[in-house]
Amino acid sequence: MKQKRGILISLEGGEGGGKTTQVLKLKENLEAVGREVVSVREPGGTVISEQIREIVLSAKNKGITDATEVLLFQAARAQIYREVVIPALNAGKVVIMDRTRDSSVVYQGMVRGFGRKMIESLNDISTKKITPNLTLLLDVSVDTGLARRADSGKMDRLDMENKNFHQQVRDAYLLLAKEDADNRWRLIDAEKTVKEVEKQIWNVVKAELKTK
Ligand code: TYD
Repeated sequence: MKQKRGILISLEGGEGGGKTTQVLKLKENLEAVGREVVSVREPGGTVISEQIREIVLSAKNKGITDATEVLLFQAARAQIYREVVIPALNAGKVVIMDRTRDSSVVYQGMVRGFGRKMIESLNDISTKKITPNLTLLLDVSVDTGLARRADSGKMDRLDMENKNFHQQVRDAYLLLAKEDADNRWRLIDAEKTVKEVEKQIWNVVKAELKTK
C-alpha cells in the first residue's frame, strides 16, 4: 500500500555513506520550498524505540542472537510507524527516514540469512504494509565507508563486523536497487563530496515531487 497523502523518502546504504548528514540537508531543502518535514532514524525515533536501539546496537551486547536482532529491529520499527510515521503521512507531511524496512531486508534477510520473504512479512506487520515512495541508496565502497566511520570514532556493534560482512551489505543493496521491484530506488554516488551528494539527492527528490 502506498500512502495517499504524505510522501515517504528513505535513505539506505552501508556504513559511512553519509546518510545522517544528507537527511539534514534534504530536510532543509524541502523546508525551503515550503514542505512540512519530519525526519527520523531507525532504529530509534521515539522514546521507546531509542531504548530498543540502545539494546540492539550497544557494543556491550555481543551475546545478542541473530533472531533477537531481527525482532528488536522490527519492534523499534512497529513503534515508530505507529507513533510518528503514519500520523505524519496522514497529515500530508514529507517523512524522511534514515534507514527503514530495506535495512532489515539487507542486513537480516540477505546477509544474516533469514531470507527476504520472511523479513518482508515482518516488515509488513511493523510498517502496516507501508513502503517508501522513494528510496535513495547512498552507495560507497567498503573501504571509504569504513574509513569514514573509523574517523568519526563511533563504532557500534554492527560496524565492528568484518570487511566481508560490509561487502555483502553493499552487494545486497546494489541488487535491490537493480531489481527496483516497485520503481522507487535511485542510486546516489556517495563517494562524492557532501555538497555533490546533496545536489544529486535534491535533483532526484525534486523530480519525484513534480509527479505527486
Ligand atoms: P546507525 O549508526 O544508525 O546507522 P548508520 O550506519 O546508518 O549510521 O546504526 C544502525 C545499524 O543497524 C547499522 O549497522 C545497520 C543496522 N540495522 C540493521 O541491521 N537492521 C535494521 O533493520 C536497521 C534499521 C538497522
